[in-house]
Amino acid sequence: MKAIVIPQYGGPEVLTVRDMPSPQPAAGEVIVRTQAVGINFADIMSAAGGYPGTPPPPLIAGREYCGELDGTKARVMGYAQWGAFAETVAGRRNYLWPVPAHWTSQEGAAFPVNYFTAYLAYWKAGLVSRAIEATRPRVLIHAAAGGVGTAAVQIGKLLDIETYGTSSSAEKLARVKELGLDHGINYRERDYEEAIREMTSGEGVDAVFEMLGGEHTLKSVKCLREFGSVIVYGAATGKPGTLDPRALYSKGTSVHGLWLSVLAGNKKVMEPAWARLSQWIAADQLRPIVGHVFPMVQATDAFQLLLDRQNFGKVVLTIP
Ligand SMILES: NC(=O)c1ccc[n+]([C@@H]2O[C@H](COP(=O)([O-])OP(=O)(O)OC[C@H]3O[C@@H](n4cnc5c(N)ncnc54)[C@H](OP(=O)(O)O)[C@@H]3O)[C@@H](O)[C@H]2O)c1
Repeated sequence: MKAIVIPQYGGPEVLTVRDMPSPQPAAGEVIVRTQAVGINFADIMSAAGGYPGTPPPPLIAGREYCGELDGTKARVMGYAQWGAFAETVAGRRNYLWPVPAHWTSQEGAAFPVNYFTAYLAYWKAGLVSRAIEATRPRVLIHAAAGGVGTAAVQIGKLLDIETYGTSSSAEKLARVKELGLDHGINYRERDYEEAIREMTSGEGVDAVFEMLGGEHTLKSVKCLREFGSVIVYGAATGKPGTLDPRALYSKGTSVHGLWLSVLAGNKKVMEPAWARLSQWIAADQLRPIVGHVFPMVQATDAFQLLLDRQNFGKVVLTIP
């Protein structure tokens, strides 16, 4: 079978399409014939050797895929840690979900990582249900025009949350506003901490979804109002977040971690998340945002797009 291989650690240019042996399913796994796969920022980190738990190269890249169960027409979308960018994947049964009949395979490949991560960020922030009389919570979403970001904007709208989102470009912010983002902040033009202070009359937000690391963890804490929380789930700057916990004292704020790699194996967390997400999907209120589609042979260009911050929503590769 053809697969996108990381032959040695490096930038997007190392990715190579090669013939590889087809996977043999272990206990609890099934074979999926893939049609489309979704690129995640974590794939860039895996190729560079910076994603925890990645096996040494050579290895097949990819953590998200959509295709048909072997020998059937049943379409599934799946999550893995690596090995997904191939014509055939041995997928764990409990990491597979049915593809809604009205979705394309490309949309299926854009679902698992972005939508579970975004939903679980709201869950960790305590915002998936609230008393009817409660005031409308505010959330700041970093990289609101990205894969997880667009999912968080859509889910925020369904949860009736006032969303604030950052991006590097006015054009991306205009597009994400069409998805329901309430307030856009172009961080190339404006310091987002200052913008949040001004836009909320000095009050701050109830939660920040933080995937940048470096100085942004502390800056995100400073955007919170009393008892708010920062949900840390990435470090796209490549730098670990810097935070002195004393910064949390005065407003009783908190910082939580979120890692789908681990949570995906937790049925008590994933089943209620899927139940809620699939209700919205069935009502056609939630649909993945596929911004870019490349054939598998252009994996390098597709990775580079994400790295250059040029993507909107999800970048998908088609598998012939
Ligand atoms: N913990 C988890 O379980 C989990 C799951 C999924 C994703 N993540 C993390 O969430 C983040 C987003 O992932 P994604 O796959 O959805 O990617 P993405 O948001 O589609 O793409 C990355 C975006 O981040 C923004 N960005 C800001 N600073 C950047 C920098 N220094 N380098 C590159 N991009 C930068 C860019 O948007 P602008 O130009 O608009 O700023 C870029 O388009 C990543 O950090 C990823 O590791 C974590």
